[in-house]
Amino acid sequence: MRPWRLEDREAFLALFGDPRVIWWRDPPRTAQQLEEDLQRVVAEPITDGLGRFAAVRQGENRPIGNVVLQPAPFVEGVEVGYHFAHAEWGKGFASEGARAAMQHGFESLGLEEIWAIVALQNPASLRIVEKLGMRAVRDMDRLGLPHRLFRMGAGEWNTDGNGR
Ligand SMILES: CC(C)(COP(=O)(O)OP(=O)(O)OC[C@H]1O[C@@H](n2cnc3c(N)ncnc32)[C@H](O)[C@@H]1OP(=O)(O)O)[C@@H](O)C(=O)NCCC(=O)NCCS
Repeated sequence: MRPWRLEDREAFLALFGDPRVIWWRDPPRTAQQLEEDLQRVVAEPITDGLGRFAAVRQGENRPIGNVVLQPAPFVEGVEVGYHFAHAEWGKGFASEGARAAMQHGFESLGLEEIWAIVALQNPASLRIVEKLGMRAVRDMDRLGLPHRLFRMGAGEWNTDGNGR
């Protein structure tokens, strides 16, 4: 994982302009809005280790996904999140990216807890937080859709870095 860069424009627009990836946003963001989004993401660099990271395959430069570890809008604390290019689904990349973000948060940043909010209609994402060993806290509505809020405390993180 590394910061997003302006030269990632094509990959960024393809990822965030794909309605299969950003499935909850209707209508999808326009190309112009996505250009502005990228400029904003690049201008807001990783701060205190938190932010939006481009996920790249080992030894490659083109991002295939986005992993976030950032202040959560729905609860006081830091959330983990992930979005991957449709062509890359089912290869374990999101699980790996989420694990890396949790490891970074707990082991490098010393966070006391990390949150995630997942739509109940998103089985792949529910599976990822389950594999991480996050615990369901409560159900809540977000963007008009039923979601489940998950939490993990630092003491629950398996220091092997592999969740469970
Ligand atoms: C959610 C998302 C990131 C998953 O990406 P991915 O790279 O396919 O994830 P992984 O390959 O790591 O697999 C995730 C797990 O979910 C499982 N899974 C995938 N689809 C599933 C389904 N329909 N039902 C049940 N489990 C499913 C996989 O088998 C895997 O579990 P396993 O390791 O036990 O086999 C991807 O679908 C995506 O970008 N979706 C759009 C953005 C999004 O919804 N982000 C989450 C917001 S909270």
